[in-house]
Amino acid sequence: MLFDTHAHYDDERFDEDRDTLLASMPENNVGLILNPGCDVESSRKAVSYANKYPFVYAAVGIHPENIEDGWEADLETIRALAQNESKVRAIGEIGLDYYWGKDERARARQQVVFARQMELARALHLPVIVHDRDAHADSMEITRRYPDVIGVYHCYAGHVEMARELLKLGYYLSFTGVITFKNAKKAKEVIREVPMERLMIETDSPYMAPEPFRGRRNSSLYVHRMAETIAEIKGISAAEVERITTENGRQLFGISG
Ligand code: NI
Repeated sequence: MLFDTHAHYDDERFDEDRDTLLASMPENNVGLILNPGCDVESSRKAVSYANKYPFVYAAVGIHPENIEDGWEADLETIRALAQNESKVRAIGEIGLDYYWGKDERARARQQVVFARQMELARALHLPVIVHDRDAHADSMEITRRYPDVIGVYHCYAGHVEMARELLKLGYYLSFTGVITFKNAKKAKEVIREVPMERLMIETDSPYMAPEPFRGRRNSSLYVHRMAETIAEIKGISAAEVERITTENGRQLFGISG
């Protein structure tokens, strides 16, 4: 049974068939899904899907691209959801995103909001789901400040050296459809280096559809492609990758078998 550890079913691209699609997951060997939030609204939606489907779990958080004035009040709502909803199993997705050429002030604000959510995770004993896009050095600096927090760097895009440090800090690394692309040399190098016990798979739906579905709307139905690709890289069976990555996700997010 596969665990898609990162999928955004609150996205409007699922508005037409969300329920049919989610309901079909168990019969398609997708036994667990974690839906992270990116702001208050999507966090609330994530919780509502988790409360509707036994195999769906939620994370709540403010994504670096979704920080608005009044984020302090939003953070209190996130805190309340994390405290009161039993199917919230992580704070996420949180982190830094410098891709869109953010100015210094915007970057500084992202760093503050990231750090505040790390504090929240520490206080509530929850793991974090980290989004790090073109911000490796600053993401690591903030991650190091909270040695008692663990979590996952999702859609991991860093180098091998950074992966080694994250492993030492107790983090997991998870990989999307990017690893199925021909030019994914760096990610493949990292996967070779990371022990199976710290790898997870995800779709990041509706984005990042793997080959041979590239360009389509992504869904958890394609998460097997990441298991197959890791199996090729590691020289083990896809069934073994499926078993271990599902167990890793259960461990990190506290989901009993
Ligand atoms: Ni995401």
